[in-house]
This record gives sequence, C-alpha cells and structure tokens, in this order.
Amino acid sequence: MSWGLYVHVPWCRFRCPYCAFVLQTSAPQVDTFLEQIRLRLAASDLVGSPETLYIGGGTPSRLGPDGLGRLLDVLPRATDETTVELNPEDVDDVLLDTLLDHGVDRVSLGVQSFDPATARRLGRARSATTAPAAIERISRRFRSWSLDLIFGVDGQTPDALKRDLERASLAPHVSAYGLTIETETRFGRARRNPAVDPDAWRVAYDTVVSTLEAAGLARYEVSNFARHGHESRHNRRYWHPRGVWVGWGPGAHGRRADGTLVIESDDVEAWLNGAPPTLEAPTPEHLATDWLHAGLRTREGIDLSAMRRALGWTPTLPSALADHFVYADGRLSVRPESLALVDGLAARLVLSYNSRS
Ligand SMILES: C[S@@+](CC[C@H](N)C(=O)[O-])C[C@H]1O[C@@H](n2cnc3c(N)ncnc32)[C@H](O)[C@@H]1O
Ligand code: SF4
Repeated sequence: MSWGLYVHVPWCRFRCPYCAFVLQTSAPQVDTFLEQIRLRLAASDLVGSPETLYIGGGTPSRLGPDGLGRLLDVLPRATDETTVELNPEDVDDVLLDTLLDHGVDRVSLGVQSFDPATARRLGRARSATTAPAAIERISRRFRSWSLDLIFGVDGQTPDALKRDLERASLAPHVSAYGLTIETETRFGRARRNPAVDPDAWRVAYDTVVSTLEAAGLARYEVSNFARHGHESRHNRRYWHPRGVWVGWGPGAHGRRADGTLVIESDDVEAWLNGAPPTLEAPTPEHLATDWLHAGLRTREGIDLSAMRRALGWTPTLPSALADHFVYADGRLSVRPESLALVDGLAARLVLSYNSRS
C-alpha cells in the first residue's frame, strides 16, 4: 500500500498575526518531542517505508540542524519524496547540508512576500530580507523546492504582487495562498480587516494564475503551481479521496485505508505528555463532502466511477452551474476559469448529496 508520513513540529519564534496553526513560541522541547515520535513508531503497525515524508509546522527549521537531524534519524526514510518546511531566517549552509545528508530532497520556503511593506504587514519583514540569500543557497543544492506566498493583503499593490510572483516563479514549485482571517489570531481580532474584499481578491488571484502560468508553472491545485514533474507528491495524497497517510505531532491528522481519521491532540503540552489520538469513522456524508471539496480543487478533478463504487452516488449538476464544470474521460472537474469559485461550487454539490432521493 502507498502511504505518506506527516510530522508536525509545533514551534515558531513568534506567532504571525494571521496564523492559527497549532504551535508554541517557547523553546522547542526536542527530547520530549522525539520521545513521543519514537513511541508512535514503536506502537504502529506500519509496514515498509512511506513513499513520501513531509515535515511541516510550525517551523521545522526552528529545531536547528541538530534537532532536525535527530528527528530525521528517528523517522523512517521515504522512498519517493522527503520535504521539510523552512523559514528563510533559519537557512544556512549547515542546515541545508544536514538535510541533504539525511535524505531530504525537497524543501518548502515560507517567504510570504518579498515586498517590504506587505511583509511588514504580515509580520514577516525578516523573512523578506533573508529570503534572497536563502533561495540562492537552496537552489544551489536542491533540484526540487517550493516557495510560499500570501496574496490578497490590504495595501498590497498590483505591482508589488506581480513582482512577488515574478521572483517566486524562479522556483520549480509555488504555493500562493489568499490571506484568510482566522478568528483566534491578531488579524481576527483587529478592528480593520487586513484582507481585501472579494472583488479585489479575485483580481489578485487572476494575477497569481496568469503570472505563474506565463512563467511555466502550471496550476495543478487551486493554490499550487509547479513546473512539470515538481508537483508535491505528498500533498497530492490529501486531495485524493483515498489517499492514505499517517500524521504525528500536535494537531496532525492521518487517514487510514478504510477512511478512518486519526486525529492527534491539538494541545501541545497534552501531546508532549502522551495524549493519545482520537479515531473518527467518517459518515457517508463526510466522505461525499471530502471527495467533492478535495477532488474538485485539482486539475484532474474526480473519477466518477470510483466515486459511484465507493459512495453509491455521483453528483447531478444543477443546470445553472453546468458551465463551471467539465466532464471528460469519466472525470468531473471545475473549468480553469471557475477554479477560484471551487469552495462554493463544491458546497452546492454537497447540497445535492444531502437532498438525494
Ligand atoms: C503554517 S505555515 C508553515 C510554514 C512556515 N512556518 C512559514 O511560515 O513559512 C504554511 C503556510 O501557510 C500559509 N498560511 C498560514 N496561515 C495563513 C492564512 N491565515 N492565510 C493565508 N495563508 C496562510 C503561509 O503561506 C505559510 O507559509
Ligand atoms: S506562518 Fe509559519 S512562522 Fe508564522 S506562526 Fe504560522 S507556522 Fe509559525
């Protein structure tokens, strides 16, 4: 069976004003973290090696070369792809060489914006100033790497966004996320919303797509763009309705072959003290929701006969929405021009599941 392994490192130097991920800003408790990972490994019935390994966060590079090297020593080696997320300010030759020595073949760099004003707004001024040197070091060593950007920030000019995209398009892979406002964050509590309105968001998203595609990075998922062969094999599991992966670390979750979700505690201290994961068997409605929301985000869309076999159901398109979709070779996908609307479109099809006779 093909499976992946995700490990969530729950520490950052500080919390960015938009970020609601599970993390602490205290010093990493590396020994305790590794002990919990070892316990999971010993208790697991995993067979063979994962095809993909993804160490994300939080900020994995906050562990430094020594901590990351020790974590990679504990984890099983992946056969196909091993990715580690890095913040630019942590990148130096020792860190990157340690990763290479431990079988890492892909890194993902969280830049967010090269533009000083936008980066400052996002609380990431230091990432912006350290990113160019980090990119230079990374591109000398790694064939495959990715860069994260955020767009749709109030005050981010069209020119600044375009320049961000042009600089980012030197990477073989780019993830570009529209700023979302999460309630339990500094931005969520701010009196003035730092995200742009939906019309401006759409203009910015269209700029993201046209600029990256013109530079040779094809959109293979709503927020993800890659040169041929550089798509993230690990992340593809999340969008595949029957993707299987194991998730370890606070707030991580995994999915078993029978669809059961394995959900780790999102309380960092409780996780470090051995809190066990909870299991959640998905209801048929959950499966249908997941299948639509995840599958429709991708260029390939949904395999309808596989969906019928698994759920005994396929969506009937309301005629008013038909223009947003393409049926081809037994697959249903969202037209490229409508991908910006995918969440609303998927939600409408979920309604048709709920009202099926
Ligand atoms: C959780 S972070 C981990 C990577 C790394 N710590 C960093 O900050 O670059 C993964 C990515 O999620 C994105 N992200 C997190 N919160 C977001 C939000 N509220 N809106 C848009 N993008 C967000 C950022 O682009 C970030 O690079
Ligand atoms: S965006 Fe990255 S660095 Fe900032 S708080 Fe979230 S995980 Fe940490």
